[in-house]
Amino acid sequence: MANRERDAATLILPAFSPVEMQVAIERGADILRSGGLVAFPTETVYGLGADATNATAVEGIFAAKERPHSDPLIVHLPDASKLLTVAASAPDLAFELAERFWPGPLTLILPRAPAIVPAVSAGGGTVGARVPRHAVALGLLQAAGVPVAAPSANRFMHTSPTTAAHVIADLGGRIDAVLDAGPCDVGVESTVLDLTSTPPRVLRPGGVTLEELREVVADVVGIEAAGHLSPAGPQQAASPGQMERHYAPRTRLVVIDGDGAEALGALRAQAVDALDAGLRAGALVTDEEADELGDLPLTLVRLGPRGDLAAISRRLYAALRELDERGLDLLLAHTFGREGLGLALWDRLRKAAGGALRPIDAP
Ligand code: TXA
Ligand code: MG
Repeated sequence: MANRERDAATLILPAFSPVEMQVAIERGADILRSGGLVAFPTETVYGLGADATNATAVEGIFAAKERPHSDPLIVHLPDASKLLTVAASAPDLAFELAERFWPGPLTLILPRAPAIVPAVSAGGGTVGARVPRHAVALGLLQAAGVPVAAPSANRFMHTSPTTAAHVIADLGGRIDAVLDAGPCDVGVESTVLDLTSTPPRVLRPGGVTLEELREVVADVVGIEAAGHLSPAGPQQAASPGQMERHYAPRTRLVVIDGDGAEALGALRAQAVDALDAGLRAGALVTDEEADELGDLPLTLVRLGPRGDLAAISRRLYAALRELDERGLDLLLAHTFGREGLGLALWDRLRKAAGGALRPIDAP
């Protein structure tokens, strides 16, 4: 399977009813075990899976995504009892975190076990491990019986996929199969926590919030330590693969760093300027803001009710893709604070905008 031409059609395996799930999981697990590439839903985004102990299969992930080998992959497990098949060692804290947050959107960085191929770690000595909170993912991982390396199932640097249709749009014809279980629930990727540094350090904010992590790891270092919280972005990459342009639409995106009435005012001013200049513009806004901007000839995509950060996170990537497909000249958005899921939204919006945010009071 791994060596076959990848120009054949990608199998779409529906996994909605229990019977469909069983068929899709068995088929997907067979393909994974024979070295193929299978995209599957998780609670965060769709992942592109391959057997993490098979060097040829792992190589297929980098080829399909056109991903540089400097960007390491997360290995997925069906439960925490398998952690030491992926990690050479794990402190008690890893098991405490697993107990509290797995299955769920938390990735732990630990020393890599010899069974995991070095390319998964981008040549380094560490590995990311997580147990996803999705019945189809867990069924597939259980049935495959091997640790599964899986980055988000998008082309490199593009917006992460939250539906099987997004996966096909980016990788159709390049991968063997995709298991389709509908839209993902969390919508932003897992929180990446480095347990090889003391104290533990967040490398990527995500579905498990910093506030939740602090309940277990009081001294956890957040992304501010790497300078990420400056609107211009960090001084240096905090981890391999944490590059500043990422999750990006193809249309130019300007993100205003702020929330509430002031941010909406700044967004409106930007939109008016763009429209006056003859540009076709669109905006990614809350439901309430869409109503308030209804007087302008803007293409609006609604993220959800103001204040419901879970709904906004769930919709973010699909909304970015929808706006990107409208053939506009400029997309506008703003951030949603930095508390709770607001921090992950802030990080993804900044990276989608190429690494820099627009201050709210910019002229
Ligand atoms: O929610 C998620 O994490 C999704 C689903 C599919 O599980 N996966 C995902 O994978 O977002 P990916 O490859 O798109 O992002 C993984 C991130 C990258 O930024 C990478 O640099 C970091 O995790 N990472 C992975 N292994 C690492 C390691 N050993 N050391 C440091 N960072 C690592
Ligand atoms: Mg990704």
